[in-house]
Amino acid sequence: KAFKPCDLVLFGALGDLSRRKLLISLYRLENANLIEPDTRIIGVDRHEHDNAQFVAIAYKSLQEFLTDELDDAIWQRFSARLAYLQIDLTQAEQYKKLKTVTDSKTRVLVNYFAVSPFLFKSICQGLHQSGILTPESRMVMEKPIGHNLKSSKDINDEVAKVFNEDQVFRIDHYLGKETVLNLLALRFANSIFTTNWNHNTIDHIQITVAEEVGIEGRWEYFDKTGQLRDMVQNHLLQILTFIAMEPPVNLEAESIHNEKIKVLKALRPITVNNVEEKTVRGQYTSGYLKGNAVPGYLEEEGANTESTTESFVALRVDIDNWRWAGVPFYLRTGKRMFGKRTEIVVYFKQLPHNIFKDSFRDLPPNKLIIHLQPNEGVEIEMLNKIPGIDEHIKLKKTKLDLSFSEAFKQSRIFGGYEKLVLEAMRGNPTLFLSRAEIEQAWAWIDSIQDAWRHSNSAPKSYPAGSWGPVASVALVARDGRAWEE
Ligand code: BG6
Repeated sequence: KAFKPCDLVLFGALGDLSRRKLLISLYRLENANLIEPDTRIIGVDRHEHDNAQFVAIAYKSLQEFLTDELDDAIWQRFSARLAYLQIDLTQAEQYKKLKTVTDSKTRVLVNYFAVSPFLFKSICQGLHQSGILTPESRMVMEKPIGHNLKSSKDINDEVAKVFNEDQVFRIDHYLGKETVLNLLALRFANSIFTTNWNHNTIDHIQITVAEEVGIEGRWEYFDKTGQLRDMVQNHLLQILTFIAMEPPVNLEAESIHNEKIKVLKALRPITVNNVEEKTVRGQYTSGYLKGNAVPGYLEEEGANTESTTESFVALRVDIDNWRWAGVPFYLRTGKRMFGKRTEIVVYFKQLPHNIFKDSFRDLPPNKLIIHLQPNEGVEIEMLNKIPGIDEHIKLKKTKLDLSFSEAFKQSRIFGGYEKLVLEAMRGNPTLFLSRAEIEQAWAWIDSIQDAWRHSNSAPKSYPAGSWGPVASVALVARDGRAWEE
């Protein structure tokens, strides 16, 4: 389907996000013939460069970060779209320069804020004063959209002075991941799941987002942020809302946003009264990852050795609504864990009576395991009879195993950014976050953050390369459960 071409303005075009992710994704979209022929990509940054220099920087970024082959013909087509403008983003009058390269009559202006949030206000004001914005223009921004509810509201207020909510596209790159989107298909296109997706049949749900990476030279940002705000406020809560929401009436943005916000509103607050039994904060010490020694959090480059910032969080989350009453959601995420693994495990309830005592004293419950990354796929763990002519029926745990790479051999799995950048250019807001959602998520996170501050307890240590602190095992063991290992 054809869409109106864009003037895609990348503010912060020379920065990390642009070079590592955006230019790479745009090139891949070019390669897949998904960019409108007349779309232009305008890099904006404070350094003095001309178009040719920016093109050379883009080429170098592709050489460095593109994992597939760089095709010369595609590159020629792609580089012909690139232009560069030097603008000091804090100087409103300089934004007039954009007039010379954009054309609101034939192209939609899509402003991608790939810069630190402290510049958002200046960019909004500069764009406003330049006179190039139209009701069709859009702005795209991503986390951190604040570090708590108040700062998030401040950013959203500044943006709202210039852009209407329907012009604002807030990115959470997890919503661009195929497997996260597949949760919609899994839940709302398969009757075996739709009818069983509630407290009658589900015992509890686990969400694990384990990371192998450590701080990767981002100490300054990360130490102020911590894993709760870096990962749970956005990615884990987004996964949770997709798992827990009611069926939306259709796939339109508003329908989905409405259902997600209802889940966020139903999250039982974690406060000083229950923070000790509902949360675990951890911080990694030195250890081994795939046989290689890695430093602890406090020995990372630029580290402040007093820091008590958490690099691991485990939570018991309760959703106070009809569907999920009595079904805990256990969430855990950490840096420098045993391996990269993002998965959801749905544990179904145990049967009321066991007639197979010869095989199992307690029948193990069915499990649905959704692998979000890597090795994307879905597994169902179930019991089957072991073939044989024994006197007694003997059972064994077996798996129905669907690997996406096997099932969809012909399809290329697009990266999260590719999908989201394309949707922003198309103007489809479904996979972006509403202001209400972000603020609701912050309100819930702030309460945990306050409770931690109040309790003032140090994070529990865990060696790099492990599954997190022992206390995280205790968090689920207290309820008679165990993490999926
Ligand atoms: C980012 C966080 O949003 O997500 C990083 O800031 C984290 O700290 C990253 O490592 C994880 O993303 P992915 O796509 O690698 O799972």
